[in-house]
Amino acid sequence: VILTGTCECGAQLTREQADGFGAHLLNDAPFLCSACSKKREAAWATQDREDQDRRDRDRLVAKCETLPTALRRFRLADLEIAGRENALDASRRWAAGELQGLVLLGPIGVGKTTIAAATDIDYMAAHLNSSSPRWISTTLALSDLSRSFSNPDRERTIEALTGKGTPLILDDIDKAKPNVFAAEQLFCAIDGCIAHDRPLLVTTNLMPSGLAVNWPKPYGQAIASRLAGHCELHKVTGRDRRLRRAA
Ligand SMILES: Nc1ncnc2c1ncn2[C@@H]1O[C@H](COP(=O)(O)OP(=O)(O)O)[C@@H](O)[C@H]1O
Ligand SMILES: [Mg+2]
Ligand SMILES: [Zn+2]
Repeated sequence: VILTGTCECGAQLTREQADGFGAHLLNDAPFLCSACSKKREAAWATQDREDQDRRDRDRLVAKCETLPTALRRFRLADLEIAGRENALDASRRWAAGELQGLVLLGPIGVGKTTIAAATDIDYMAAHLNSSSPRWISTTLALSDLSRSFSNPDRERTIEALTGKGTPLILDDIDKAKPNVFAAEQLFCAIDGCIAHDRPLLVTTNLMPSGLAVNWPKPYGQAIASRLAGHCELHKVTGRDRRLRRAA
């Protein structure tokens, strides 16, 4: 028996009547021409993709809570490129998991911290199913490390510095004048990154060799040589954005 019917687009269609188990479901199904059926599948696929994108965006927003609020604004693609092509290219590779060690070097206010934060966010977006990088403001970490033994901030900082499964970002590593204990912790963190293939991103005002001068022996020298040996080093140049904004 041949059934006839009309598709939603108006096309006249025929099909053979089904029999056997579930036949009434097939026979009651609306007539749909192959063009309309393709269109419908494409719409479903788009819908699925949009749902997935929305879920991914929500997860990224949740992950960004590991960053200080003021640093959640930019992705790498939002940043101005001129004068910092190499730094941004290396940051993009770090975010993609292609580069294990990166030092962003440059004067105060050029945007090193901003690039590092955008790199962190891009990394999280590219690794939604992995743990987020540990963002460490070095000044804050050193003050946490100088607290008393059972202090929870001190514990948390040591845990963040030594945790293995997550990338480590040390912002402004040169700002600190650490005591021996803190210098040792930072050295162990950096050395651990190299030993355990833990991605490392560092921002600094000083060449790594400049750290050696300020830091207790032998840690300054040891950190400088680890950074120099393990990381790509890129200069971030440009005007001081803080001054420009004030102007
Ligand atoms: N690409 C950018 N677009 C807009 N503002 C920026 C950009 N890069 C940096 N800034 C702003 O300039 C200031 C200094 O940037 P920051 O990343 O802290 O510099 P650095 O870490 O090199 O000292 C901050 O207030 C930051 O928000
Ligand atoms: Mg900074
Ligand atoms: Zn149709």
